[in-house]
Amino acid sequence: MRIYLDHNATTPVDPAVADAMMRALQDLFGNASSVHYYGQQAKAAIDDARSAVAALIGAEPSEIVFTSGGTEADNFAIRGVAEALEVTGRRHLITCGIEHEAVLNTFKALAKRGWRTTVLPLDSGGIVSPNALRDAMTDDTALVSVMHANNEIGTIQPIAELTAIAKARGALFHTDAVQSAGKIPVNARALGVDLLAISAHKFYGPKGIGALWAKRGVRLSPFLAGGKQERNRRAGTENVPGAIGMGVAAAQAASKMSGEATRLAALRDRLETGVLAAVPNTDVNGSRASRVPNTTNISFERIEAESLLIALDLEGVAVSTGSACSSGTLEPSHVLKAMGLSSHRAQNSIRFSLGASNTEQQIDHVISILPKIVTKLRSLSTVGTR
Ligand SMILES: Cc1ncc(COP(=O)(O)O)c(C=O)c1O
Repeated sequence: MRIYLDHNATTPVDPAVADAMMRALQDLFGNASSVHYYGQQAKAAIDDARSAVAALIGAEPSEIVFTSGGTEADNFAIRGVAEALEVTGRRHLITCGIEHEAVLNTFKALAKRGWRTTVLPLDSGGIVSPNALRDAMTDDTALVSVMHANNEIGTIQPIAELTAIAKARGALFHTDAVQSAGKIPVNARALGVDLLAISAHKFYGPKGIGALWAKRGVRLSPFLAGGKQERNRRAGTENVPGAIGMGVAAAQAASKMSGEATRLAALRDRLETGVLAAVPNTDVNGSRASRVPNTTNISFERIEAESLLIALDLEGVAVSTGSACSSGTLEPSHVLKAMGLSSHRAQNSIRFSLGASNTEQQIDHVISILPKIVTKLRSLSTVGTR
């Protein structure tokens, strides 16, 4: 039995998505910017996909810019606003310590080019305090970027409250909703944000396609020079099969969301309660009150998380020690460290992220094999306690 519990890294492509993409690869080869029949067919399919993606996040289709994924959407939002607002003298940017590298490293790059950046602290549950944001805001703050749901611990930030604070000082607000879109209701307007990034491969769509939602009227400097695609916002021949796949995935996610969220939350809670009861000296990282339904991050005292990951993989269970982008390094998770957890704890934590294929039987199997594996690893371990 192989059990995939790493859906925050990526999800398998839904069969309906694969079918639609296969048909698009065969039949819709036209360049969506071409005037003739072939181009029109491709453009009509992209327009349908744009509407489905917009519907998933409560937006207008014209506000959706297709990108190559979440990383590009985050880069575009932050760099695009920073450059567009440079002339106004607003050269301060704010983010928080648990963001994905797509945001944190964009901030670092802009800091090197002269922008002033502030990285907000988090409480021990992994939540940004509205007061911390209020204190950090200045009259030259151009943009605040705080993620909606975190990829490692699943916590959901109080975005609507944070956007109100940013708005009061005239700053724009970007949220990375890559880990929330498709899992929980996301309504860009209700959140009060100006920009929002999503990625298809996190909700059973293909890799290499995502979208940035930019509220009508928000000025963004394009960062690719080229043609006039995507209303002059993102140059490059449109990825027709990708957009179609993302559109089908968005429609499927919207229609399955409430049932799947309830089912996954019950499975996640079963896993969490089962592991905490069966394995001594374990703890959940991050606030359990406000989380996406599919994620739990558990620390196993006196265990090297990488060893546990490998031992579980040998048993056919795929989990992760944090974000896939930084795995392979033995650096403790920057997310857990930003929440104030010790290096030990940040290095003994495993993320379980559930999804469509998971069943109660699989969860019970994982709970049943963990105690033996952990006891064995602890008996070999030289790792200290928290
Ligand atoms: C929160 C978050 N933002 C951005 C990304 C990057 O998205 P993509 O893989 O589509 O570039 C990820 C992917 O892991 C993510 O989890």
